[in-house]
Amino acid sequence: MEQRRISFSPPDITETEIAEVAEALRSGWITTGPRTKLLERRLAAYIETGETNIDCDTSKNTEKYSNRVVCLNSATAAEELNLRILGVGPGDEVIVPAYTYTASASSAIHCGAKVVFVDIQKDGDPVTHMPEMDYDKLEAAITEKTKAIVTVDLGGIVCDYDKVFEIVERKKHLFKPMESDGNPLNGLSSRIQKSIGRVAVLADCAHSLGASRIVAHTGEGVIEKQRKYCGAIADFTSFSFHAVKNFTTAEGGASTWVLSPSAYEGANKVTDEEIYHMYQLLSLHGQNKDALAKTKIGAWEYDIIGPWYKCNMTDIMAAIGLRQLDRYLGLLKRRKDIMAKYDAVSNQLGIKHLVHHTDYMDSSNHLYLIRVPGITVEQRNEIIEKIAEQGIATNVHYKPLPMMTAYKTIGWDIKDFPNTYDYYHNLITLPLHTLLSDEDVEYVCKVLKTVVKEVKD
Ligand SMILES: Cc1ncc(COP(=O)(O)O)c(C=O)c1O
Repeated sequence: MEQRRISFSPPDITETEIAEVAEALRSGWITTGPRTKLLERRLAAYIETGETNIDCDTSKNTEKYSNRVVCLNSATAAEELNLRILGVGPGDEVIVPAYTYTASASSAIHCGAKVVFVDIQKDGDPVTHMPEMDYDKLEAAITEKTKAIVTVDLGGIVCDYDKVFEIVERKKHLFKPMESDGNPLNGLSSRIQKSIGRVAVLADCAHSLGASRIVAHTGEGVIEKQRKYCGAIADFTSFSFHAVKNFTTAEGGASTWVLSPSAYEGANKVTDEEIYHMYQLLSLHGQNKDALAKTKIGAWEYDIIGPWYKCNMTDIMAAIGLRQLDRYLGLLKRRKDIMAKYDAVSNQLGIKHLVHHTDYMDSSNHLYLIRVPGITVEQRNEIIEKIAEQGIATNVHYKPLPMMTAYKTIGWDIKDFPNTYDYYHNLITLPLHTLLSDEDVEYVCKVLKTVVKEVKD
């Protein structure tokens, strides 16, 4: 067998993205501007926040969709701004699965809150095998201090949001919304907390742009059962457009939100415009005029209304995203076809793998996790090394957070998360991306078969 070089997750960039970036550069507007605003509206249209009955190609008709999408420079920034808009800070607790990437937890720490880790279900969800939180343990972890739960749609598979919303509803009596101290951010956060009236559900959808699930609960409340895209389910959502993701803007991310109709009326009324505006302020120094507004002749003067952050998306990044979005449905389809080939070989070898599509859920096909039965951590690492010797890059998603120095220092111990450790110990993530040819996929399958047999026998 001739050796091939298989990268783990290179970006799929074509001449159309390159041409759009060149256009942005030539346009004279390279920071946050028209392309970023267009990408926000097109993403809103794609994930169906606001009006529905749309497809991916909304370039001609984006005005009618909501501006409930804010593009930023990363998912980490999106997660942090979601928490800050919600008013999470010192004295608050945020529940996070022990099985995730650091950004799901570190963003809460940046806000001064305490992270409370929860173990996953033994072997993950019974149908999809996704390492989803143990929902009994989640319910038990909610206290009077809990302000948010971070759910993680790992690999692109959508969590059981109905279950999560039912839990936060049941625990509603414990929730104490914050009072405003008069500053504009605080005032908005207090109204949002009062209108939500329970622990908020913050979805970490870093992997799951374009994934959907049939749900009966969203941030809107109980709804008629229907299929909803990630970004239109949880109270607040964060997406990642990092270079290794399905959909990329090199670095980048976005926030979205869903509030109940009652949040838009009454004494604690909010508007989408003020929420959108607060994201702009938080992501641009708290400056009340962005660069575009300041270009109007004579309109130089601005105010700083809070000592805030700098995490806006540039139009160069948005240019990549606009053209990626044109191609996105095709990219998802190719990933699905590759996964079908991986499924066949995994099934042959008796290897458990994520199930990305069911009758109630369609994943965004981001990561292909396999768990080789009956092996030790050392054997797992040996498999990874032997596969690498054949030129194939694999990965492990993830080394659990309680095993990481930063979280061990805070006092977390992996011994308290036995299901999380067990899930991790025999896990390998196979390369899954749209630059893989059919021959590459065949090669990965063949090498996997040989190496697993070699190490296990
Ligand atoms: C689950 C999860 N959340 C958040 C992030 C952070 O994304 P970003 O690099 O865009 O900040 C990642 C990045 O890989 C991730 O895997």
